[in-house]
Amino acid sequence: MSVTKPLPHDSGPLHVTGQARYVDDIPTPANCLHLAFGTSSIARGTVTAMDLDPVRTAPGVVAVLTADDLPFANDVSPSIHDEPLLSVGTVHYVGQPIFVVAATSHHAARRAAAKARITYAEEAPILTVDQAVAAGQYFDDGPRVWQKGDTDAALAAAPHRLRGRLEMGGQEHFYLESHASMVAPQEGGDVVVYSSTQHPTEIQHKVAEALGVPMNAVRVEARRMGGGFGGKESQGNALACACAVIAVKTGRPVKMRYDRDDDMTITGKRHDFRIDYDVGFDDTGRIKGIDFQQYTRGGWALDLTIPVADRAMLHADNAYLLDHARITSHRLRTNTQSATAYRGFGGPQGIFGIERVMDHIAHTLGLDPIAVRQVNYYHNMGPVRAGKVSGNTTPYGMEVRDFILDEMTEKLLADANYADRKAAIADWNAKNPILKRGIGFSPVKFGISFTLTHLNQAGALVHVYQDGSIHLNHGGTEMGQGLFQKVAQVAASRFGVDVSLVKITATDTGKVPNTSATAASSGSDLNGMAAKAACDTIRDRMANCLAELHQCPVERVRFEDGKVRVGDNEMTFEQAAATCYQNRVSLSATGFYKTPDLSWDRAKGQGRPFFYFSHGAALTEVVIDTLTGENRILRTDIIHDVGRSLNPALDKGQVEGAFVQGAGWLTTEELVWDDKGRLRTHAPSTYKIPACSDRPEVFNVELWDGENPEATIYRSKAVGEPPFNLGMSAFFALSDAAAACGPNYPMLDAPATAERVLQAVKRARG
Ligand code: MTE
Ligand code: MOS
Repeated sequence: MSVTKPLPHDSGPLHVTGQARYVDDIPTPANCLHLAFGTSSIARGTVTAMDLDPVRTAPGVVAVLTADDLPFANDVSPSIHDEPLLSVGTVHYVGQPIFVVAATSHHAARRAAAKARITYAEEAPILTVDQAVAAGQYFDDGPRVWQKGDTDAALAAAPHRLRGRLEMGGQEHFYLESHASMVAPQEGGDVVVYSSTQHPTEIQHKVAEALGVPMNAVRVEARRMGGGFGGKESQGNALACACAVIAVKTGRPVKMRYDRDDDMTITGKRHDFRIDYDVGFDDTGRIKGIDFQQYTRGGWALDLTIPVADRAMLHADNAYLLDHARITSHRLRTNTQSATAYRGFGGPQGIFGIERVMDHIAHTLGLDPIAVRQVNYYHNMGPVRAGKVSGNTTPYGMEVRDFILDEMTEKLLADANYADRKAAIADWNAKNPILKRGIGFSPVKFGISFTLTHLNQAGALVHVYQDGSIHLNHGGTEMGQGLFQKVAQVAASRFGVDVSLVKITATDTGKVPNTSATAASSGSDLNGMAAKAACDTIRDRMANCLAELHQCPVERVRFEDGKVRVGDNEMTFEQAAATCYQNRVSLSATGFYKTPDLSWDRAKGQGRPFFYFSHGAALTEVVIDTLTGENRILRTDIIHDVGRSLNPALDKGQVEGAFVQGAGWLTTEELVWDDKGRLRTHAPSTYKIPACSDRPEVFNVELWDGENPEATIYRSKAVGEPPFNLGMSAFFALSDAAAACGPNYPMLDAPATAERVLQAVKRARG
């Protein structure tokens, strides 16, 4: 069976030979126009005068559009229509599109855009958490509070109490392919859109609004992205809408791609957070009561801030059973890029809060940080029995029935030789005055499902041709994560054929409609199931036809090893397809899936928002230079739970990549805005993502051997986002190394750049 085989990514050879086609590689049609936005140079204010004549007369310019020139909706928001494609006179962040230039080349458009003369009436921008709170700039009508138990009483009665604050930065997606769109006008005002997007249906929806046409006049195709990481859930709308409007206006094909600087300046990033905590605990470190205040800067428009902030609240417990907890979430409006989805979707920010609390408690009590985590873990309920009530519930009232981190942790500590290495590190540190080593641990329990329940649905379309070749299409998008290959393996397994018989095709709103973004790590769970349903429909039709022809019970028709066995007869899958075609059997079917058993009351913060949890644990060792703060990861050991893996090679790749990206977020990747709200880190020269050489020198990644107790596709689990959180182990290792320098808790904030590590060393020394 094709499923569970460690097959390589289907596009691997195309990626490494440069043949994989991205939007900008599609041969540009004759007569194509290229676009660039002219953007705001101030963070907040009103446009008082705009002279675009120098833009219009610049070489190669064909058209210049402002908000007044847009024929229909001027909105690219994925949520509440608060995000105009082009400014309507007020500007809300540095980089906000004000006008768009169409020219005969990409460079002509960019050069022309820079020639605009715009004057503004400037207002003082709201940039920081404190400024936004003071100004009452809240999304969602003020703070949201979810709670369990009686937190104030529990805090007051606890033997020990600790308060602290953790700051964590945002993160630039830095997909290697920046945003891109191309629109080809069709007859009768219809358009075909090629977009680098995780959400073709939303592109279709927003383009239809922008053109004032129904969705059936817009077809969106997306073969692949050169990375999305959440940054292409909503942020591609602007490019697609701009291209579509100009394509219809001029009757010419139109393309737009952001240069790296433009991409970083214009588009949203991960939400940065400040988390204040107040925790009460006993002598073993067991938490008695905890209060979290989560503050996040959502930027100027709503985008996905509500569900991101919700997911941060939903992960404030991470792996720990909290009897009394109160989580307050402040979703703040600021004059910065509108923060958006990013791998983990708020989950990592919430988890990081309680992981810091664990570390802080351990340091305060002089206990091993892993031991403190273990006393707080949820209980492992063993095999689930129906109706068993455990008290093992999250702060939002969901019973945790499949917790396995206790076992995973034991195995990781044994395999990675924790006890000995911890002693060896202490020894080494005693002998080395300048360099210090540290070791850090972090577990993750991550909820799988969209918290907006209706998004948990998917469709697929499968054709079997008369030569036995299979055409597979579904609503998921490919961004490098290997979704297409995994779903192809599912399809191949249903027909008992080799995966080479399955043609993977571009996501296409004309084939599968009304799709959700490929997000929340749910791509293979949802689309795998939908494809399975479509394949099974065709397979059942084939089986019935063949059983009748061969006069054998349908139960005796089997699809395996590339053969179809009908009673005692055997034929190739190709022969079976040809026979069914000749007998006028429909060899095409759609499939549909919706996740069962979800119920979620967002207002109350109660219910079962997740179908199940994915788990993982990591142990990382680092060394720091106490004179400069420079540091490196020496070794990382990971055990990660993907249920029964659909493809262990791809899943392992996801775990490795996610770890490195998570470590990057908390170490070298620093976003800096100046006091005018200008993003100063808008290119790789100033924004440092991990390079190959930043990967741990020793990197042991193991997949946990177990299956999903819930009936997911072949009992697998989602893998895309959960292991991102394991990068936290690197952060806590750095903090541990700093703590080796003195008696105090280092109170390290993220990103732990060399500068912050150096400050932490000083703080530890006191
Ligand atoms: N892996 C690669 N190589 N590139 C990406 O852009 N995006 C991540 C993750 N892994 C991403 C990736 C994010 S944010 C999500 S939600 C999931 O993949 C989406 O895909 P899936 O649902 O198929 O796992
Ligand atoms: Mo991933 S942040 O859900 O696209």
